[in-house]
Amino acid sequence: MKLAVYPGSFDPVTNGHLDILKRASRHFDKVIVAILRNPEKKAFFSVEERVGMLTAATKSMRNVLVDSFDGLLVHYAKKKGAAAIIRGLRAVSDFDVEFQMALFNRRMAENIETFFMMTDYKYAYLSSSLAKQIARLGGDVRGLVPPIVERYLKKKKGRKSL
Ligand code: PNS
Repeated sequence: MKLAVYPGSFDPVTNGHLDILKRASRHFDKVIVAILRNPEKKAFFSVEERVGMLTAATKSMRNVLVDSFDGLLVHYAKKKGAAAIIRGLRAVSDFDVEFQMALFNRRMAENIETFFMMTDYKYAYLSSSLAKQIARLGGDVRGLVPPIVERYLKKKKGRKSL
């Protein structure tokens, strides 16, 4: 079975992430969306909220599972038996950090390959931070995030940290 891990913060998941996920899921038997539990990085949504949003948003994707992990990504991927890591690329500015991460991950686990996928042009400049900022400032996030995330953002609107 060809299994891939699609890791990230997903704080919150955007339509750009979902586009990558949908396309990746056509090429693997199973894709696990793995949300990093990162005590060093203050997230806006709790891991449980993010798991909930992603689970709802991927309901129709039969071979996609949502999970969370801590520690090294390659340890998690190995434990799950994944042969691949999926990462999305947007503007050129993503490249440096992704290049570094892919090389370090390969150094630590040479049998796990990182696959990069280009974002759809519609989402080239979309990020979770931007979606949060637009929502905070009263803008319309329709089309940028799935409906479940829109509802969560509305619910939290007004909070300073959004
Ligand atoms: O959505 P993000 O924040 O760009 O995702 C980054 C993520 C979670 C993929 C990355 O920070 C990660 O893999 N963290 C786990 C710790 C780890 O394995 N670090 C070594 C990477 S070289």
